[in-house]
Amino acid sequence: MLSDEDNELLCRVGSGTPMGEVFRRFWLPALASSEMLQKDGAPKRLRLLGEDLIAFRNSNGESGIIGAYCPHKLAPLFFGRNEQCGLRCAYHGWKFDTLGHCVEIPNLPPNFDTNALKARAKIPGSPTKEAGGMIWVYMGPPDRMPELPHMEWLRVPDDHVYVARWLQRSNWAQGMEGEIDSSHISWLHRDLVPRTVDPPVMQTSPIAKGLVDGAPMMKLIERDYGFVYGARRQTNTGDYYWRVTQWMLPMFSMIPNDLWPRSGRAWVPIDDEHTSVVTYAYRADRPYTREEVDYIDQGNGFPPPLHPSVYTLPGGYRIDTFESIAVKENDYGLDRARQRNVNFSGIHATTDQDRALQENMPSAFGLGAGRIVDRKRELLVASDLPVITARRMLLKLAKDMREGIEPELPRRPELFHVRSTSAVTPEGDFESFLKARAGDLRAVN
Ligand code: FES
Ligand SMILES: [Fe+2]
Repeated sequence: MLSDEDNELLCRVGSGTPMGEVFRRFWLPALASSEMLQKDGAPKRLRLLGEDLIAFRNSNGESGIIGAYCPHKLAPLFFGRNEQCGLRCAYHGWKFDTLGHCVEIPNLPPNFDTNALKARAKIPGSPTKEAGGMIWVYMGPPDRMPELPHMEWLRVPDDHVYVARWLQRSNWAQGMEGEIDSSHISWLHRDLVPRTVDPPVMQTSPIAKGLVDGAPMMKLIERDYGFVYGARRQTNTGDYYWRVTQWMLPMFSMIPNDLWPRSGRAWVPIDDEHTSVVTYAYRADRPYTREEVDYIDQGNGFPPPLHPSVYTLPGGYRIDTFESIAVKENDYGLDRARQRNVNFSGIHATTDQDRALQENMPSAFGLGAGRIVDRKRELLVASDLPVITARRMLLKLAKDMREGIEPELPRRPELFHVRSTSAVTPEGDFESFLKARAGDLRAVN
């Protein structure tokens, strides 16, 4: 349970809000490099942290993310021309570079000195970097810009990484909370019959055994980056099936996936009511094979099968994104026969199962269903400890920010250099398990 005041503090991320400022101190994955491969290709419309933005790749291959509107008469730059190292507004031809500097004002007489006007015509622009198959953006004060976090998936070759992103029509926090809710995996994501489609190459650990025990024992240890937590399930052989997961501020997860070694997500706020869910999976040891990528693309784990889409946000701004075919309007493909015979939820893909619930929770503040869940009505229990801990840590950052105290974590990128793991072992104590698997848990590149 959370008061309305804390709920707003947790969820709202617009410019000037405390949590919005916290997010503006971290690098955020904005879009996949593959969405913008071509130099001088079509710009992409984004909204991040409530700001309308345009992303483009210039003639030199550099990416840029800048405000979406031309400062002259506020024409949307999406309709502009991406040419000769800049994005040229379609209305009167003013041109901007990847950081939003105005570099040409061609609709004035040749003897007019445009320098002062160009300086005033600067569009807010944010530095970008490319790593792990994503274009990352930093939207905070320039003098506080940190290094990229040292997550392992940002430090392996691109063909070792699989990334995708999709639209979730809810506030970022209720999506993110599902990520650290280990107990729901045994229920919402349970298969009633074993999946038969897994190619042998994907069968790397005994997930079916793990899911037998629907009331795992959970242990959580706070760390400077967030926390590490372990869910211990009894297997039918008398051993323990451990899943050890990290949650990293403000919204990154790292999960030992049973179908491929490690994966996780970033819950990137589009605005207070929409989220860009970035998912990644990677191998440290070798590139993914075509067979593996095809398997992931089919939506057998996550992500769901996705298609590129242009989504019109309330208010009319359109963003370039990806969506699953399972959406609110078709009840996420819920099939009651499948629910009786095949899986617990009756919905096919894992993340569609999550979204179905998270996009339809009742909202606080008179908002539409699923937008910002009304946390004062919740009844949390012991298995919700990770969620409670994450909220406490996030609220501390937001309250500190409100007092002018900057977060330290973004400036300690090495803290993100960790791995998740899963194992079947006779070891029943979490601290001893962590000690025994320390080599596994520290990224090695
Ligand atoms: S509105 Fe963009 S150049 Fe005039
Ligand atoms: Fe889930």
